[in-house]
Amino acid sequence: MKLVGLSGSLTPLSKTYITLAEALKFAGNYDETIQTELINLRDYEIQFCDGRDPAAYEGDTKKVIDQIVDADALLFGSPIYRGSISGVLKNVFDVIPNDSLRGKVVGFVATGGTYHHYLAIEHQLKPLAGYFKAHVVPGNVYAHNEHFENKQLVDEGIRSRLQELVISVVQLTASTQGIATGAREPIIPRQSLAQS
Ligand SMILES: Cc1cc2nc3c(=O)[nH]c(=O)nc-3n(C[C@H](O)[C@H](O)[C@H](O)COP(=O)(O)O)c2cc1C
Repeated sequence: MKLVGLSGSLTPLSKTYITLAEALKFAGNYDETIQTELINLRDYEIQFCDGRDPAAYEGDTKKVIDQIVDADALLFGSPIYRGSISGVLKNVFDVIPNDSLRGKVVGFVATGGTYHHYLAIEHQLKPLAGYFKAHVVPGNVYAHNEHFENKQLVDEGIRSRLQELVISVVQLTASTQGIATGAREPIIPRQSLAQS
């Protein structure tokens, strides 16, 4: 099983990245057959979505799309910006193919300054999973500034919730094996720029 984490922050030593790194490290220890990859959007120059066919993107944008398409399961992480997800993460959801998450299991992590916006996972990220016809595990992890010290996650409660999240993603992926009956891709025509 290939479990891909994607950190939607461009900040150096981002808390979102640190949290996802911890989750993926746990996944590798939990089951050594799991292949993990962590995409740090800070390391990529992703093009803005311009409506083209996703297959027409090149360079880093293509690399990230391919990593997502090749994943069996994903953990998406976002910093909370203005009560919502980051723009760079939203852009990734805009450039990936409509069917790239279909039938896959996804889990969500977010980090904020305070607890004020913990529901952003419910009303910003989970609807995207619905759009993409992905299976979302019931839990999620929201960590804020007080859960970190010296750029490290120090809260045992958050660590334990992360482990639960990973176990849910791994177990649900094993039991669904990428099959989601009736989960058709959304019917949204995407005209390539070349045709317009
Ligand atoms: C532009 C901007 C907007 C932010 N808006 C919010 C917000 O609405 N709610 C919140 O709890 N934290 C907000 N924060 C704080 C970040 O969500 C928090 O520091 C987060 O952990 C950053 O994640 P990162 O270290 O992975 O980049 C904001 C930070 C920035 C830079």
